[in-house]
Amino acid sequence: MSDALWGGRFTKTTDEMVNDFQASISFDRRLYREDIAGSIAHATMLAKTGIITEGDRDDIISGLKDILGQIDRGEFDFSVTLEDIHLNIEKRLTDAIGAAGGRLHTARSRNDQVALDTHMYVRREIVSIMELIRDLQQALLETADKYKEVIMPGYTHLQRAQPILFGHHLMAYFSMLSRDFERMEGAYKRADIMPLGAGALAGTTFPIDREFVADALSFDRIYLNSMDAVSDRDYSLELMSAAAIAMVHLSRISEEICLWVTREFSFIELDDAHCTGSSIMPQKKNPDVSELVRGKTGRVTGHLMALLTVVKGLPLAYNKDLQEDKEGLFDTIDTLKFSLAVYAAIIRGMKVREDVMKKAVTEDFSNATDLADYLAKKGLPFRQAHAVAGTAVGMAIERGIYLADFTLDELKELSPLFEEDIYEAISPETCVRLRISLGGTGYDSVKMQLAAGVKLLSQEAAAISQLSAKQVDPATLDLAKKPKLGWAE
Ligand code: ARG
Repeated sequence: MSDALWGGRFTKTTDEMVNDFQASISFDRRLYREDIAGSIAHATMLAKTGIITEGDRDDIISGLKDILGQIDRGEFDFSVTLEDIHLNIEKRLTDAIGAAGGRLHTARSRNDQVALDTHMYVRREIVSIMELIRDLQQALLETADKYKEVIMPGYTHLQRAQPILFGHHLMAYFSMLSRDFERMEGAYKRADIMPLGAGALAGTTFPIDREFVADALSFDRIYLNSMDAVSDRDYSLELMSAAAIAMVHLSRISEEICLWVTREFSFIELDDAHCTGSSIMPQKKNPDVSELVRGKTGRVTGHLMALLTVVKGLPLAYNKDLQEDKEGLFDTIDTLKFSLAVYAAIIRGMKVREDVMKKAVTEDFSNATDLADYLAKKGLPFRQAHAVAGTAVGMAIERGIYLADFTLDELKELSPLFEEDIYEAISPETCVRLRISLGGTGYDSVKMQLAAGVKLLSQEAAAISQLSAKQVDPATLDLAKKPKLGWAE
């Protein structure tokens, strides 16, 4: 008989290469806190329902807490032969406390156990991602507020289009991140469903109490179908898809920052502490962080694609393919968290070159729409006004001047509707000020966006603290002494 925990029906031990291939302990060890919390709740429930004795329960819980301490302190020797985090912990527990350890796995399978651990892990990580999203939003809002009067060219097709406020530009990213935050809240909701009790796939013959476990581990809902419970990876996919979208947002701002710091644009300057130099070209100051975030977006979208592909052809219920959910999930979480944190620092440290931005809207034709709007407001149909403005731009380019450089007489030749007030009407400040429509770049509109942003940040803080309070810490989880009753009682 093989001495693996499942060795009963085997006459040979596992081939070493096969074991190395199928073991997941190198990466799933990061689930140890969730695994221990889940086992404490499970053992408590087994005792409460009379499936194991209270003595066994106490031995299991104190043994698990010892193991928690050993892993926390880096004293636990993980074994590849024991495949994964679940078997590593169970074997160590049984070695330490004897027969009671062997009773822990009653009415449970690794299939529902790993699902439980991953749900709890995803829940916890979503909360810290939400905190980081919010902090980056805060950095964007502070910076937008600081530079709320600064005018820059807004672009379409990467061609100067219309003057905008720099604050307006930054608040666009704030808005994108608000949706990322919401998507994370949605993903949390779907991770907050308790799978334990599904057993291998069909439920169990033991009189378990799933409501008790759900309550002990602060789950909002329970899977009502055991096959769904062990096969579902939607909650990871949702987190990964929300993460991929968030990374795409960071990648877009990265692209802009890489452009803005070029000598050609020179719109902003990054803090020296956030850039690196070149080993050969002494003049270089490279925006590596932005480039890397842009680059890492590729692997986060890749992980999402990979897991979608793993799940797409799987028959119900558990298949070992599902073990492939973890590395991509973990790397997605690590990459997104790091990118969000480093971006908040980049935004807080950047300096804006107001003079360069101002020059870019003054020596430019981004006020051509406003020249056309001026004529349209005096009754000329917009299409004709557009044509007049276009002709003016063409003439100006030919003469090497800008629209404001035409004399009033020259303008009157193009249209008799032009008056002295045209110069004021096409100044960059007026172009911005008159964009009064809701959500536009006007000064008041941007102030309104900033005020709404402050309000949103406090709502987000409340949502975060509500979810943080629900997170379970195995070190303090003591259900044996103080059973939390809910649901059924
Ligand atoms: N390490 C496995 C995973 O991550 C745990 C579940 C194993 N179940 C099984 N029947 N082999 O998916």
